[in-house]
Amino acid sequence: MNIFQRRESEIRSYCRSFPTVFERAEGARLFDREGRPYIDFFAGAGALNYGHNPPEMTAALIAYLQEGGVLHSLDMATVAKQRFLESFESIVLEPRAMDYKVQFTAPTGANAIEAALKLARRVTGRRNVIAFTNGYHGLSAGAMAITANRHFRHESWIQRLDVAFMPFDGYLGPDVDTLAYLTKVLEDQSSGVDLPAAIVLETVQAEGGVNIARDTWLQGIAGLCQAHGILLIVDDIQVGCGRTGTFFSFERAGIKPDMIALSKSISGVGLPMSVLLIRPECDQWKPGEHTGTFRGNNLAFVAADRALQRWQNDDFSQEVSRKGELLGQHLQDLENEFPEMATTNRGIGMIHGFEFKDSIQCKQVAQEAFQQGLIIETCGSESNVLKLLPPLTIDGETLGEGMTILRKCLRITAEKCQTLAPN
Ligand SMILES: Cc1ncc(COP(=O)(O)O)c(C=O)c1O
Repeated sequence: MNIFQRRESEIRSYCRSFPTVFERAEGARLFDREGRPYIDFFAGAGALNYGHNPPEMTAALIAYLQEGGVLHSLDMATVAKQRFLESFESIVLEPRAMDYKVQFTAPTGANAIEAALKLARRVTGRRNVIAFTNGYHGLSAGAMAITANRHFRHESWIQRLDVAFMPFDGYLGPDVDTLAYLTKVLEDQSSGVDLPAAIVLETVQAEGGVNIARDTWLQGIAGLCQAHGILLIVDDIQVGCGRTGTFFSFERAGIKPDMIALSKSISGVGLPMSVLLIRPECDQWKPGEHTGTFRGNNLAFVAADRALQRWQNDDFSQEVSRKGELLGQHLQDLENEFPEMATTNRGIGMIHGFEFKDSIQCKQVAQEAFQQGLIIETCGSESNVLKLLPPLTIDGETLGEGMTILRKCLRITAEKCQTLAPN
């Protein structure tokens, strides 16, 4: 038994899916202790959009450390935070005509969600919130209450009050208009659902199975929020920071949420950092009302500032869309090649899902991929969707190499299934 099995809690998860000891990483590759390379189609669950150890960011970190820059500062003003805020204002907010206050929350995505829920309830004076089927928002008590997957919810943990779950876009199939249902629920005095403080959503449900809300659906939700005085909170923790091709995932729908949660790739290198963007009229916090010791991770600010420089013009965005199309074509080829296994594939930008008829086969393919040197995860309520989440910076050759491995794994799994199938 190794030290991890002997000492680390049973809560261990990813190290069971990827059972090796990693040592080094560069770009879209990880290397284990034995020097074995792995192509990374997981990218820290969306925390490594710019790949592992992007040189300009690690160089900035080393320089900052050598200068003796402040590392920990709670929410005191520092030069590193100032630079980040100035870049965020000039590179992200102003070109998009967005006016938001920035709250630095504790550094997990879940804490940004906690802050958003608390603030929405304070601003509106209402407790109920609406969340969606298959949504994932983190696992602290408040965030878990609006997370749908039963695996994470346990009867004994908390009372999951003040949340109503509504069907996400497409949840009931292409012929059912879930927006019409939500409209009726909000308008009908006898629907049994209290007027909510907020509607919380991911524009692409990542953990939930790569479910992509249509632009019209998102616009409809934004319209409903406006009509009923409900705050719209977009959880852009996994699919923000360029994952769908634009900096914010909702830009394609032209909506302006009241609050936006960002985390994961905001720091550029995978250092802990989260922010909640707040429409100024909603910024009704009293000083220090939502605190946290690690809100001032200055190393994260330094790297985040470097990461934002990639957004100075449209080049990066166009690069992501181009690679995303390539990824989609590869997956379509695989769907055509393995119709007995695949249901469908879907994606936007550089997040794609490859759905299996049988979740066991999906898990087998992910396991085989690890054996063959490819890190890839499953998602969806039944873990029946392979989630492809390569770094946005991956080069075409490495992407192709990863897809070749995936094809091989599908073939191996298909052959195994044929051998096991009863005649
Ligand atoms: C959409 C979304 N929201 C919130 C979270 C929670 O973030 P964290 O794990 O940092 O608390 C995640 C994490 O995967 C996520 O994907």
